[in-house]
Amino acid sequence: MSKPRAGLALVAAALVALAGCGAGDPRPVWHTPAVAGATMTTAPGVGAPGLGDPYYPNAGNGGYDVAHYDIAVSYDPDSHRITARAAIRATALTPLSRFNLDLRGLTVRSATVAGKPAATSRAGDELTLTPAEPLPAGTVFETIIEYGGKPSTYGGPGQAGGEGFVQHDGGAIALGQPESAAAWFPCNDHPADKATYDIKLTVPGDLAALSNGVLRSRTAKGGRTTWEWATTSPMATYLATAVIGDYRVRTGTHDGLPVITAVADGLPTTMDDAMARTPEVLDFLEERFGPYPFDALGGIVHDNANLRFALETQTRPVYVSSFFLGPKPSVTVVAHELAHQWFGDSVSVRDWRDIWLNESYATYAGWLWVEHEFKRPLATSFTTAYETAAEEVWTTPPADPGRENMFSDSVYDRGAMTLYALRQTVGAETFDRITREWADKNKDGNVSTADYIAHAEQVSGRQLDDLFQAWLYGRTRPAKP
Ligand code: TRP
Ligand code: ZN
Repeated sequence: MSKPRAGLALVAAALVALAGCGAGDPRPVWHTPAVAGATMTTAPGVGAPGLGDPYYPNAGNGGYDVAHYDIAVSYDPDSHRITARAAIRATALTPLSRFNLDLRGLTVRSATVAGKPAATSRAGDELTLTPAEPLPAGTVFETIIEYGGKPSTYGGPGQAGGEGFVQHDGGAIALGQPESAAAWFPCNDHPADKATYDIKLTVPGDLAALSNGVLRSRTAKGGRTTWEWATTSPMATYLATAVIGDYRVRTGTHDGLPVITAVADGLPTTMDDAMARTPEVLDFLEERFGPYPFDALGGIVHDNANLRFALETQTRPVYVSSFFLGPKPSVTVVAHELAHQWFGDSVSVRDWRDIWLNESYATYAGWLWVEHEFKRPLATSFTTAYETAAEEVWTTPPADPGRENMFSDSVYDRGAMTLYALRQTVGAETFDRITREWADKNKDGNVSTADYIAHAEQVSGRQLDDLFQAWLYGRTRPAKP
């Protein structure tokens, strides 16, 4: 659930329900240079400062492919300052005499590339590194950056308090889409370059420090505690999170999967109960989407009303508390964020333009959950969306909504309606096969809309151009399927 409006609509739907009413071939995997821009250079041997994303041309950088981030952040809540070190292992895709990382604000204290001091310069959100010697194409090299300071934020779409590494209630929350990561670590800040992570957070001993993946260790030393988290499946930068503060942390397992949930102290325990339903929602989605793609599970509930959405941070979505009001909160938003673990996190967009590939399935999963828990038929969710959509839903094509409409109702609702139209056209069984095989064959990868269309045609054995043209690119309301 993204936008507050969608969230409210969901809550409303749940309340109503409670009241009893009611490219055909396999695509490359993560370590393959994922986009044409990855090899784009500004001059011979110089990595480009952006990947040429149509909506965020300067996001990410060309010339290399990151395999692993090892990030250690020590956080001081009083000053809201970080002291940090990032070790980044990457492969040069072209000869590199210099290259960029994305980093917003903060001060770089030192940098080495391939074991030798590297010169650095800053311009906007770009950090340029000049290694002591050029790196030949194909070199696997490590970049180590010591940095720190007071993180700045991004004004995300509709986020009053900004996104990034945000101060909140004696702690911090690192969260935001499409931009957030470069506010707390140097990175190739684009989903086209996914990597594995070790994230080590050192905080005052009385605070919790949550992040993605498996909790490897928790070590106390001199009044401070280091929480060491490991993400072993490739992850897009915007899906990395850090949540620091007073939280009630619960740990458990589900079918051998480690589960860690956390709820801000001071929030009602009904929210811990909602988080405790995460495995139940996961089981429901696994039946439709196939095996869960990751090795850890959980969720985090905070009470920063300025970060008023939920985000599908990998393995451990982050939710604002307003999703879980009332004595028995609805977990429809959990179905949405967990669906993203398949669609968005494991199977990631190559360009932000294609974000409907994520939000359509997450919204559709919400419809499935509402049918399951509140007996509201899928057809009703579709028809309501179809009949109540505002005019701009029909004039905004979900598969190219424009940067300012990335999180619009066209992407979410018309996106889900597109999947429903496909399901009506090819039949439920074939649609489920399209869905599962899509998730399976693109696990840990990057995809485009063209890939999805080709895949749907290949699995169904049908020509679906007209359907997708009308639903994804048309500027008028398509006929009801
Ligand atoms: N992708 C999120 C969702 O639909 C919504 C979202 C967009 C978001 N931008 C954000 C959440 C920034 C938190 C912060 O689940
Ligand atoms: Zn979503």
